Amino acid sequence: MASTSRTTARRNPRGLARSYPYWLAGEAVAANTDLEVRDKYSGKVATRVAFADAATVDRAIEAAWNARGAMADFAPDQRRDVLEHCMRRFEERFEELALALCIEAGKPIGDARGEVTRLIDTFRIAAGEATRVEGETVELQISERTRGYRGLVRRVPIGVCSFITPFNFPLNLVAHKVAPAIAAGCPFVLKPAAKTPVGALIIGEILAETDLPRGAFSILPCSNDDAAALTEDERIALLSFTGGLVGWDLKARAGRKKVTLELGGNAACIVDADPGASLDHVVERLVFGAYYQSGQSCISVQHILVHRDLYDPLRRRLKARVAKLVMGDPREEDTFIGPVIDEDAAKRIESWVDDARKAGAKRVAGGARDGTMVPATLMEDVPRDCDLYRQEVFGPVACLQAFDDFDTALETVNASEFGLQTGVFTANLAHAMRAWDRLEVGGVIVGDVPSFRVDNMPYGGVKGSGLGREGVRYAIEDMTEPRLLVIRS
Ligand code: SIN
Repeated sequence: MASTSRTTARRNPRGLARSYPYWLAGEAVAANTDLEVRDKYSGKVATRVAFADAATVDRAIEAAWNARGAMADFAPDQRRDVLEHCMRRFEERFEELALALCIEAGKPIGDARGEVTRLIDTFRIAAGEATRVEGETVELQISERTRGYRGLVRRVPIGVCSFITPFNFPLNLVAHKVAPAIAAGCPFVLKPAAKTPVGALIIGEILAETDLPRGAFSILPCSNDDAAALTEDERIALLSFTGGLVGWDLKARAGRKKVTLELGGNAACIVDADPGASLDHVVERLVFGAYYQSGQSCISVQHILVHRDLYDPLRRRLKARVAKLVMGDPREEDTFIGPVIDEDAAKRIESWVDDARKAGAKRVAGGARDGTMVPATLMEDVPRDCDLYRQEVFGPVACLQAFDDFDTALETVNASEFGLQTGVFTANLAHAMRAWDRLEVGGVIVGDVPSFRVDNMPYGGVKGSGLGREGVRYAIEDMTEPRLLVIRS
């Protein structure tokens, strides 16, 4: 029988609570705490989490449906106050949140702290936006027929939203859905990744401290099968999904609801003949972009396209720099490469590298996998039909290739089935503008790697990379719709 309480269990010495309840209609429910969450470095069970079933998901949708009027009436300043409360509490619980990421995602502690900082940024941006969801007047007097008519448009909340989030940013990719929903006045049901649910459940604890209307939020770790209603239920007005290409299948099943998809990529970074920065700086940024959190980011650098004149010096510097990256326990301050999310992922990455080598690719840097630890790997001469070249590797592997002419480099990037972000190091303004004009991607980052993201910028892709944009204001636009008032005076 489920027990309901507003408190979580006592903390264990490893830093996580012994178990975490899920959040159903704003209430903590410690039911069926049978989802084991492992420490991704040690492989040991670190905590247990309540696991919802399909009936619970249905109850959450019903509660959100019933809460949509109260959420719409919850005033913008009240929404802002909720978001500001969350920011304060995230600051107070900063180290606890960072350690949770470190344990449940295997994220090196430096990257984990960076993610908590971004979580706070995302809520701060949403708090600012909450009181700026504005409308406009529309001039209707465009002919004799419409004399005396005036039009006003304001944006109203779209209604119930469902959110499905991935394992690689257990806090900030949750924040990118939850914070805009609160700012927009939408109740929501969130399914966090089953491998990394703890961050979202701590966000739930903090939301439960606020005055959000009853039923406005549910956070339910559950199986994909039991989450089917989050895609199919007609009471839901918007589905926002971040994850793999399965997102396209969800869209096909989503019926009339709006769908936002952020599905990753295999991002490239172009290093032009004059990169506009020292090669040492370019190498630092490429190494960060390719290998931070073991390449488990949708915008990690997978392809480095370098002008042939710079190929050898860049290759030499990259090889030397990659060899110095510290791999190990993500809790250690100097660790740069931690584990990947599980052994299946590690084996897949390894097999893609092996297949590429059999097809003629060469390994410039890297080495053998040990369990979930995959060393930072640099490849060259990777044939274009290999998985390692074509698919999203989502691991610490980058592929180096030379180009002779900038326009060819742009065409090479556009040949990808994905199109999320591209980085371009160039001192040539015409090249920078041409990249912006021609690249089929959601964002072009000149002077840095594609992995650059600030949480208020429009973020999302084209082609296989998805549909729609996140970045608080852009998400709020999706979560609201225009409602017109016409007045004849
Ligand atoms: C992602 O992996 O899609 C998110 C990347 C980021 O927020 O930096």
